[in-house]
Amino acid sequence: MQIKGKAYRTIWFENNIVKIIDQTKLPHQFIIKELKTVEDSINAIKSMEVRGAPLIGATAAYGLVLSILEKNDQTFLKDSSEGLIASRPTAINLKWAIDRMMKKISGTNSNEILKVAIDEAKKIVEEDIDFCKNIGLNGLKIIEEIAKKKKDTVNILTHCNAGWLATIDWGTATSPIYHAYKKGIKIHVWADETRPRNQGANLTSYELNEEGIPNTIIADNTGGILMQRGQVDLCIVGTDRTLSNGDVCNKIGTYLKALAAKDNNVPFYVALPSSTIDWNITDHKKIPIEERNSDELSHIEGLDKDNNLQKILIYPQKSKAMNLAFDVTPAKYVTGLITEKGVCEASEKGLKRLFK
Ligand code: MRU
Repeated sequence: MQIKGKAYRTIWFENNIVKIIDQTKLPHQFIIKELKTVEDSINAIKSMEVRGAPLIGATAAYGLVLSILEKNDQTFLKDSSEGLIASRPTAINLKWAIDRMMKKISGTNSNEILKVAIDEAKKIVEEDIDFCKNIGLNGLKIIEEIAKKKKDTVNILTHCNAGWLATIDWGTATSPIYHAYKKGIKIHVWADETRPRNQGANLTSYELNEEGIPNTIIADNTGGILMQRGQVDLCIVGTDRTLSNGDVCNKIGTYLKALAAKDNNVPFYVALPSSTIDWNITDHKKIPIEERNSDELSHIEGLDKDNNLQKILIYPQKSKAMNLAFDVTPAKYVTGLITEKGVCEASEKGLKRLFK
């Protein structure tokens, strides 16, 4: 998608270097950062210079390529894969990408391993773009139906950033929105701010602005009253891990939006590529929920009056804070899952119908 009229992807590989857009600096600064070692990749994921389930999967895949470039050695590769998997625990795409890369390169001789790894990382990236595009085409039908009935602007609420910045291109939750907009459907997006890191404000609103899509940032607790007032036609969110029974783990606060949507008969859809499905865990309590540094809550970053980025403390110095990054929305609150293969019921039956 576009930034200042120029098409970008969130990650690319050039002259044996991985390039990323540093998302910790958006929307105020647009900085392209170079990753040259596996440690750079681990740090970029941990610090959330790259974030979003599909993008951290792709970064991990390229992290293994960088590891082979650094030292073509099996022990180093194994340590690298473990370090990458541990860098963020909740999004399953990370482990999915590493397992896929390791399976592909295992048994490859040391002369060929680099080429095999680069090809597979590129495949993961291209496949994600393709999947996200198809998620958009499948989700478009839902928006078209609502637009046909309403004959007025369709208001869509989304949480966090499941936009193109969270993937390689198109996004998951935003892909149906981009497709609908390109088809001339009148759209307006409510972007939940998404405390503490404000991905909704800093990333979703930013990327929609760059594509010219009308949007309004709201505080995280505003969605409920908007739904009661009939100002939300549809919710679409992303996911970091979808269980085979249709339970959805996504950015903290998603669950509360799903409850409000249920109470107000607002359709609540979750958009995902199949790389986000965890076929192994069936009990959502077994999902490792990331707990991040409480500094992310107690401090906030923004521009001062001289346009310098500043970080300031906003909590009482002595207060403790707790920063759980994800929650789980049970399948019963999910109207449907929008995948690259079609839309299905949030259940094992629904998922298995699409993914045998
Ligand atoms: O902590 P983040 O910013 O990585 O969380 C991102 C989300 O929760 C997204 O909704 C999810 O990864 C889906 S991305 C298409």
